[in-house]
Amino acid sequence: MKALILVGGFGTRLRPLTLSFPKPLVDFANKPMILHQIEALKAIGVSEVVLAINYQPEVMLNFLKDFETKLGIKITCSQETEPLGTAGPLALARDKLIDDSGEPFFVLNSDVISEYPLKEMIEFHKAHGGEASIMVTKVDEPSKYGVVVMEESTGKVEKFVEKPKLFVGNKINAGIYLLNPSVLHRIELRPTSIEKEVFPKIAAEKKLYAMVLPGFWMDIGQPRDYITGLRLYLDSLRKKSSSNLATGAHIVGNVLVDETAKIGEGCLIGPDVAIGPGCVVESGVRLSRCTVMRGVRIKKHACISSSIIGWHSTVGQWARVENMTILGEDVHVSDEIYSNGGVVLPHKEIKSSILKPEIVM
Ligand code: GDD
Repeated sequence: MKALILVGGFGTRLRPLTLSFPKPLVDFANKPMILHQIEALKAIGVSEVVLAINYQPEVMLNFLKDFETKLGIKITCSQETEPLGTAGPLALARDKLIDDSGEPFFVLNSDVISEYPLKEMIEFHKAHGGEASIMVTKVDEPSKYGVVVMEESTGKVEKFVEKPKLFVGNKINAGIYLLNPSVLHRIELRPTSIEKEVFPKIAAEKKLYAMVLPGFWMDIGQPRDYITGLRLYLDSLRKKSSSNLATGAHIVGNVLVDETAKIGEGCLIGPDVAIGPGCVVESGVRLSRCTVMRGVRIKKHACISSSIIGWHSTVGQWARVENMTILGEDVHVSDEIYSNGGVVLPHKEIKSSILKPEIVM
């Protein structure tokens, strides 16, 4: 079985992190976002993942080479010379996706996180016998997504409306599809949107089916949603394999700590924190609702909440970092500094406090 992951766009909403790595390689819960998807695909027997990409394929491939061997899965790139949207890349990768088996293939948006119930999706797809299956999930603010109106009992999609101006329903496209090879005959090799041009037509022919995604779902393409996504992911980890979460008197709620990270005396950590490989958290530090990426040092008595600390950065002692502060790679925050929502570009030194949310170039 094959899968294609749509890896387009420049990840501007996750800057400054995406100034150092393409968005799919930005860490989420201690591993690159895209690895969560590749591992889930491998687990249900996918043998080849095609990354549909429109820039820097070599960065992605170099990075993923190790995982190809470790996971035993083939990872290839299909590179566009111009952005082909969300459907055009499927036409470009047609030869890689079709094989003699005639099996359906998965398509995933690259920045969504969930429990990836892909096995259940295969069963659902087989049972309805239509041409395409999509996962849907309920959200409070459907207007920024693709909204799906479906027959509750069968899942048959009556209408697919991308980013509707008027309310049509609260079930939205979760960006996880299982498509028969015949869908490829519907797509031309030109910039096209699967949401606006392909799904509405399949729905009109009554061959598009939607399955309500069990468990959590989040599009983690922007900082606030990234931090919410981590809470949901850790909640789900607690239910499925709680032994992966940290324990101890200094831990509050769900906390993920890489085994190579060092935590000092008298810290209070959690809830909803991820601490990456090689991090050093000195004594008396307070962390909550935050991600601390690979190689970061948090000095004594610093306090970090609702923030993301990029790779190899340092936060000085008694510093207070909060309210959606995002530090890019290799940022150094001096002792006793306060950051209230600062978004700091890579390789900067912060020597004076950031009193209100602003970008520090
Ligand atoms: N290769 C390639 N080329 N990929 C692309 C291109 C392109 O030209 N344009 C977008 N993509 C990829 C993005 O990287 C992302 O993984 C996916 O296609 C969706 O594109 P976005 O531009 O991020 O769409 P969105 O987030 O506004 O909406 C999509 O996702 C929602 C769920 O988060 C739609 O699929 C909605 O219907 C859906 O509800």
